[in-house]
Amino acid sequence: MDPAIADMPRGGPNASWLDRRLQTDVLEYTDRYDVPDEVKQTVIGALDRVGARTGQHEENARTALGVVSDIPNPRILELGAGHGMLSAKIVELHPTATVTISDLDPTSVATIAAGDLGAHSRVRTKVVDASAIDADDGSYDLVVFAAAFHHLAPSVAVRAIAEATRVGRRFLVIDIKRLSPPLLILTQLMIAPLATIAIAVRPSFRHVVHDGFISSLRVYSRSAFVALGKAADPHMRIEFLPTAVRFGPHMGSLVFSRPDTNSTPAGASRHEEHE
Ligand SMILES: C[S@@+](CC[C@H](N)C(=O)[O-])C[C@H]1O[C@@H](n2cnc3c(N)ncnc32)[C@H](O)[C@@H]1O
Repeated sequence: MDPAIADMPRGGPNASWLDRRLQTDVLEYTDRYDVPDEVKQTVIGALDRVGARTGQHEENARTALGVVSDIPNPRILELGAGHGMLSAKIVELHPTATVTISDLDPTSVATIAAGDLGAHSRVRTKVVDASAIDADDGSYDLVVFAAAFHHLAPSVAVRAIAEATRVGRRFLVIDIKRLSPPLLILTQLMIAPLATIAIAVRPSFRHVVHDGFISSLRVYSRSAFVALGKAADPHMRIEFLPTAVRFGPHMGSLVFSRPDTNSTPAGASRHEEHE
């Protein structure tokens, strides 16, 4: 691994002095295996409720299906599924799509497997590490990773891109957009009083607030995504999808694909590579 990539700031190779300070190696609760499962599931449950109320799950599912709209019976692998609601929406919206719902966390996977979603005829569940995917080359038409890519350090993220584009023809990453340093500081100052009140009313909410804050510092910028994709394969195609304006955190989507596959995403107009 090129040390320049391993040490790359989340804001990208040319991140400003301030941007380089607005990042952290502190783990989110959902990445920690030294805390009780209930703590992690508190965060996962909150993400599920927020995604349902804001329409994020459905929007993510529509984005995923748009990327494979040229494929009649798409085979989809969801990484880092947490609660699994993105895949639930995919099988609800598409009559023949099959999904493998996965996460690194065995408790999340077991919870999905034990519920109605796990019993769906077009759903499989599996524990999968995004950076070492146990599947043959070309097993999937699409691999999707929502609100989770920022959990990976740069060297791990490069492996995940290489793996997802090995087992899948297209790798869709949906994640919170990295804000410019002034906007990030302003946003956190505005959120802080609301978060304090929420924690006073419901103490367990502190885990959710913690992970939300850490996420905002760990998300990658567009130039960082390009650098990570090119480190995985110098010929990697990186296409940023247009994003809808909506209530809640601003999300961005991009598709990684290798040039040697018939992997150009269908549908939406695209912005190729650099900012
Ligand atoms: C913030 S949650 C996102 C859950 C869901 N995708 C969503 O959109 O709300 C991040 C998830 O990524 C998972 N995760 C973290 N590192 C991972 C890895 N290396 N491979 C697969 N999943 C991972 C965590 O276990 C967690 O469930």
